[in-house]
Amino acid sequence: MGPALLGTDLVWGAGPNRFVTAEVTALAAGRAIDLGTGEGRNAIWLAERGWQVTAVDFSAAGLARASRLAAERGVSVDWVQADLLDYKPAPGGYDLVLIAYIHLPSASLARVFRTAAAAVAPGGTCW
Ligand SMILES: C[S@@+](CC[C@H](N)C(=O)[O-])C[C@H]1O[C@@H](n2cnc3c(N)ncnc32)[C@H](O)[C@@H]1O
Repeated sequence: MGPALLGTDLVWGAGPNRFVTAEVTALAAGRAIDLGTGEGRNAIWLAERGWQVTAVDFSAAGLARASRLAAERGVSVDWVQADLLDYKPAPGGYDLVLIAYIHLPSASLARVFRTAAAAVAPGGTCW
């Protein structure tokens, strides 16, 4: 293992996005999925708060950094390497479905949003 991953080594930083913390802090922990997790900052923060987290991205490099950061922080996340245009999360399988800053053409984004919405459990949150 190399040196510890400091925030400055990560493209999007090691801490969670402030809009995510504002929306999610009050929610009771449950099952979460982070679509387009990048280097995992939001997924790791959720896991630290007791969520059972699946995190998806097609970047092997991003997921490797995410996995390393999670290990450093002592939390477990189910990292999945997949293209969001093909990946199908379990319908109704998640109390929180999170998408933060993924950049896709509008038709592709609409497709991902439809899949994301279908993954929200009754009473869950899609952000
Ligand atoms: C701007 S980053 C945001 C990362 C993270 N959500 C965050 O807020 O730190 C966008 C991420 O979406 C991923 N991504 C973009 N298109 C994707 C696709 N079709 N399938 C899977 N991941 C994708 C990229 O690899 C990148 O890690």
